[in-house]
Amino acid sequence: MQPFVLESPVLRLEVPGPADVEAIVDACQDPVLQRFTTVPTPYDRSDARFFLDRIVRHGWSTGREATWGLRGPGSSLLLGIVSVRLGTRDVGFWTVPAARGRGLMTEALRLVADWALGEGGVDQLHWEGYVGNDASAAVARKAGFRYAGVGPGMHPGRDGGRPLCWKARLRADDDRSPKAGWPDLGGGAVRECPPADDVDDSRPQTRGVPRSPEDS
Ligand SMILES: CC(C)(COP(=O)(O)OP(=O)(O)OC[C@H]1O[C@@H](n2cnc3c(N)ncnc32)[C@H](O)[C@@H]1OP(=O)(O)O)[C@@H](O)C(=O)NCCC(=O)NCCS
Repeated sequence: MQPFVLESPVLRLEVPGPADVEAIVDACQDPVLQRFTTVPTPYDRSDARFFLDRIVRHGWSTGREATWGLRGPGSSLLLGIVSVRLGTRDVGFWTVPAARGRGLMTEALRLVADWALGEGGVDQLHWEGYVGNDASAAVARKAGFRYAGVGPGMHPGRDGGRPLCWKARLRADDDRSPKAGWPDLGGGAVRECPPADDVDDSRPQTRGVPRSPEDS
């Protein structure tokens, strides 16, 4: 599959490349990003190059995973990364700390979902985030994902275990309005959530964000 651009009036998604190494390394120093993803820690230029070559380039060329960098219109500055794995149908993303809270990832996820559930031929998309990752859950909720419960994550954590995750899905025929039923994402106590008994946990273990070589 050849990389292609997705865009809206406020955002352009295009394949990240070697010029983005510094921005990726900078973003991956963020403790919040490190806490809620499985990027290597410490993270240096070799990790970013591995990500760009083995995950991004390889993902596009095999058609298994489509990864885009977020940029403002007319700007080359990398603002984040979003990806979708077409076999497992799951999404992954991060925004650089300085660009958070502007609605960028919500817009990016909408663009990716529109493509994946349309031309991409995927019938549904899965999102999961560690319990307590309110910001990520807020992005999925605002993009129209329906909360599916809590259960062991499909991707191993850094310790090799399966961290407890919130899970949600978006089907091709769902409308994209935010759905009721999500845990309280206001930063307060997490409500009791039903088990994610209807979520398929048997899918392979990778995340659409920079990760360690062992995860590929
Ligand atoms: C999750 C993340 C990608 C969100 O990126 P973003 O570009 O800031 O997202 P948006 O600006 O689109 O925010 C979406 C909503 O989340 C809300 N939000 C942001 N931080 C929040 C928090 N800590 N608690 C609750 N809601 C939060 C925003 O207010 C916004 O809702 P609003 O428009 O109603 O105000 C970003 O915080 C990040 O990179 N986190 C670290 C990596 C990560 O967790 N990745 C996801 C792994 S599953």
